Amino acid sequence: RVVVLDFGSQYNQLITRRIREFGVYSELKPHTMTPTQIKQMGVKAIIFSGGPNSVYAKDALTVDPAIYELGLPILGICYGMQLMAKDLPGGQVVPAEDNGDYGQSTMHIDDQQSPLFKGMAADQQVLMSHGDYVKQLPDGFEKIGSSANSPVAAMQNVARGFYGLQFHPEVRLTEHGNDILRHFVFDIAGATANWTMSDFIDMQLAEIKQTVGDKKVLLGLSGGVDSSVVAVLLHQAIGDQLTAVFVDHGLLRKDEAQQVLDSLQGKFGVNIVAVDASDRFLGKLAGVTDPETKRKIIGKEFIEVFSDEARKLDGVDFLAQGTLYTDVIESGTDTAQTIKSHHNVGGLPEDLHFKLIEPLNKLFKDEVRKLGEELGMPHELVWRQPFPGPGLAIRVLGAVTPAKLTLVRESDAILRAEFAAAGLDETVWQYFTALPGIQSVGVMGDGRTYDEAIVIRAVTSVDGMTAEFAEVPWTVLGKVSARIVNEVPGVNRVLYDITGKPPATIEYE
Ligand code: XMP
Repeated sequence: RVVVLDFGSQYNQLITRRIREFGVYSELKPHTMTPTQIKQMGVKAIIFSGGPNSVYAKDALTVDPAIYELGLPILGICYGMQLMAKDLPGGQVVPAEDNGDYGQSTMHIDDQQSPLFKGMAADQQVLMSHGDYVKQLPDGFEKIGSSANSPVAAMQNVARGFYGLQFHPEVRLTEHGNDILRHFVFDIAGATANWTMSDFIDMQLAEIKQTVGDKKVLLGLSGGVDSSVVAVLLHQAIGDQLTAVFVDHGLLRKDEAQQVLDSLQGKFGVNIVAVDASDRFLGKLAGVTDPETKRKIIGKEFIEVFSDEARKLDGVDFLAQGTLYTDVIESGTDTAQTIKSHHNVGGLPEDLHFKLIEPLNKLFKDEVRKLGEELGMPHELVWRQPFPGPGLAIRVLGAVTPAKLTLVRESDAILRAEFAAAGLDETVWQYFTALPGIQSVGVMGDGRTYDEAIVIRAVTSVDGMTAEFAEVPWTVLGKVSARIVNEVPGVNRVLYDITGKPPATIEYE
């Protein structure tokens, strides 16, 4: 395994992820790790991540200098390289005279024999992002790469296994970044690619068992992918010491609540307290038209229903959450930090005190999906498209009623079935129907109708931050439209949304 010490760069979690993709376990740890702790981890190599600050800033983040004496290879990235240059004798780091170097630039490899760069073209595109630069190499180091604005874009001390990169190899904007990391991890550090998701599961199971002991754990099951995977993982570790509370707010898609229950309870035997709170939610939402107010009501109600159930359970010490790596805002994820004592988790009332367990907080979304499959969860459950917490309520524009929910639920089921039949579920990132609340005149048979329109939304996206409308074949849209109008009473028109995000959002409210 390889440990990445965290100096706060926004890319640092990507480093560990790339290394895990090579089949080598990697974890991000606080820069305050002691040499003894690092040794105990049994790592093959250390990476110093990038960071937003200057090594000369007041309160600059540092490492225990004894780390350099562990005899382990070290790769310093950006801030990490500057820290090495500053810490090791002879090195000097100075602020750039102009405003530093930000963005893609060309790096020239000065030493193509370097173990880091072997077999690579002499020039490559790299992503730079720094205000300081290494002016003087530390003793025993040589320059192996340079760019227009960084005299030392890369440096090495082969004898000690110390390497520094002024650019970020972990991002895609660095053309051969993955190869560089590979060279470090395998050729220089001598790591073996033998880590798999099933090792991760074993590790997690052991850790959860040790943490929980004979105590009880509560999980809020939303029906989404993350909390479902946590449910199965925890159940494997501690069986019936886990109680999952599933709050059905009545705003899920067709058959979804049943599918989640059938799978988690039926197939995996997870102990679930299912609460059908549809009436409660719909009651609170009645007549409310403002989108933000609708969202707030749902959020508040959710916590209330969950808290009511939590209070009925005795002797629960832990609350499990499906927090992902990307949700972890704190710098570093020390093992101790995976279990934090939160008094008011996610807005829970003051009287409910739990310690928190977040077994997914080292993983990215697609890794969680792989984990779910490795645990034997069905593909359809684990690869479901994103679904918003407030559910169908934000797809019925304006006031929500059971009748309107039915129109969305039924039309959405048709859309999903036809997209799956056409194989579009593999390529379109998110797709659903919404009820805009437009009534229009139509003709069906011999009669005039004055019914609702349904809009189809289908987008491609990477992370939901931006999106393009999907170019869905007309034949598929035609079939979906015909089926909706024929099979969902009260709908006489189907529209296709051809707006990107921005300027629109993906959802309608
Ligand atoms: P928008 O509509 O903001 O949506 O373009 C971007 C992505 O986020 C999802 N979304 C939510 N997910 N709780 C969630 O868990 C929410 O309140 C929420 N609102 C929007 C949306 O489905 C899309 O994938």
